[in-house]
Amino acid sequence: MQEQYFVYILKCYDDAYFIGLSNDLLKDFKLHNEGVYEFTNIRTPVEMMYYEVIPSLPDAIKRQQQLRGWTRGKKKALIEQNFHKLQLLSQCQNMSHSKYKDFGSAQSSSIPQTTSITKSPSAPLRAGILGGGQLGRMLLQAAANYVVDTYVLENDENAPAAHLCHHFIKGDIKDFDTVYNFGKGLDALTIEIEAVNVEALEKLESEGVKIYPKPAIIKMIKNKVTQKEFYQQHNIPSPGFIITQNLEELKSHIGFLPAVHKIGQGGYDGKGVQVIRDEASIDKGFDAPSVLEKMVSIQKEIAVIVAMNDKGETAVYPATEMVFDPELNLLDYQVSPADLPETILEEAKSIALQLVKNFNSAGLFAIEMFVDKNNKVLVNESAPRVHNSGHHTIEASYCSQYDMLWRIMLGYPLGNTAAILPSAIVNLLGEEGHSGPAKYAGMDEVLSMNNTFVHLYGKTQTKPGRKMGHVTIMSADKTDLLNKVHRIKSTLKVIS
Ligand SMILES: Nc1ncnc2c1ncn2[C@@H]1O[C@H](COP(=O)(O)OP(=O)(O)OP(=O)(O)O)[C@@H](O)[C@H]1O
Ligand SMILES: [Mg+2]
Repeated sequence: MQEQYFVYILKCYDDAYFIGLSNDLLKDFKLHNEGVYEFTNIRTPVEMMYYEVIPSLPDAIKRQQQLRGWTRGKKKALIEQNFHKLQLLSQCQNMSHSKYKDFGSAQSSSIPQTTSITKSPSAPLRAGILGGGQLGRMLLQAAANYVVDTYVLENDENAPAAHLCHHFIKGDIKDFDTVYNFGKGLDALTIEIEAVNVEALEKLESEGVKIYPKPAIIKMIKNKVTQKEFYQQHNIPSPGFIITQNLEELKSHIGFLPAVHKIGQGGYDGKGVQVIRDEASIDKGFDAPSVLEKMVSIQKEIAVIVAMNDKGETAVYPATEMVFDPELNLLDYQVSPADLPETILEEAKSIALQLVKNFNSAGLFAIEMFVDKNNKVLVNESAPRVHNSGHHTIEASYCSQYDMLWRIMLGYPLGNTAAILPSAIVNLLGEEGHSGPAKYAGMDEVLSMNNTFVHLYGKTQTKPGRKMGHVTIMSADKTDLLNKVHRIKSTLKVIS
């Protein structure tokens, strides 16, 4: 059965009206009377006075908000259109507190009444974001400058983006029905993470919802096997690779080592990548379709963000350099523009641009690349969305990557990607040995430094290594920039 939503009016014990929204009317009604919900739990018993069936969630949310804004007299007038009640009661045998329960056996037409809410021409763009993490949060901060009605779909109601959107919908971004229902009343959708239900996005796309980027590109990128094949097919310089279906097959490629084994799908937080230096470590490989990639002698890791609009126009940001801690092998900080000769930067720019043109999709893309010890530029992977490597663009670029994506979705001209000043990013990670409510030590000192910008992601709980925020530092002087990076790293701590 097709998903449907109910916007309903309850009359509470103290005569107050409550406007609710549910996809399971009877269950919600029961829960209200069991005292589960905050407003009604001190006002039971409640009576079901009225409901509407609305086929899409965004429309249902709009209708709920509209009714919430109505006067009591107007709500009462709506309730008194008695024909709505009969249908409810025909489905409801168990509404013990309903004054209509004596009509419980009444039958009505089985066609639910639907209310379709049409968007007025001057209405804002209704845009949805799949995922509610920090990237979504920063995207919403940029949305506030435009006329956009924002919707976020995310399972965690305390996620960083949950409180900055106009409409937060709790739900699983990997579930077909949830994503489809979320998107079907919207004008445009984007993602802040690739692990989404692409089939639902494909259906939405076929029904006219604009998806940034195209679902076909998300699908191709989500699987490292198809992603690497795409680079190969389009002559994008990238490390040589072999596809392995299982561990047995991997063992037959000893001659290809040293290499990096990368699981096709389902890897997360670096857990889908294994370095296989020699035969002895081959058991660390994945027993699932994967890519066995030639080990690159990496000189630097960089990322180039490319924006493309619906007209196919492009804009490219200067490369960001990821600087790794050589001992911990963890990202230490980022610098932009990357510290590389102009010729290499030009090469990286041209490869990133060529790749995005081949994607043939509007959207924002971060292309992660290796510069090897022979100064050769190779594409490692792509992210079809706003990206960590572009955090600095909020302050350090004329047009941030977040602003850029809204310009694309709204059909406005692309922005200026030039850097205002060189910048660096220090990530704020939860300190070792600290778990629980987050506190920030050293904040005063960091905020007293010139041209440093603190971004906390609104996560109340810290744990070791959890990404809690970042600091952007801007300086025309490279030495000053790096001094500040190190000072911030040793000063600002996320503790509990
Ligand atoms: N072919 C390679 N040669 C050398 N080092 C590599 C190679 N591929 C990946 N690496 C190293 O492993 C890191 C992670 O690999 P990759 O970016 O492909 O995976 P990922 O799924 O994004 O993992 P993570 O979440 O850790 O970034 C790279 O940033 C790089 O340092
Ligand atoms: Mg990576």
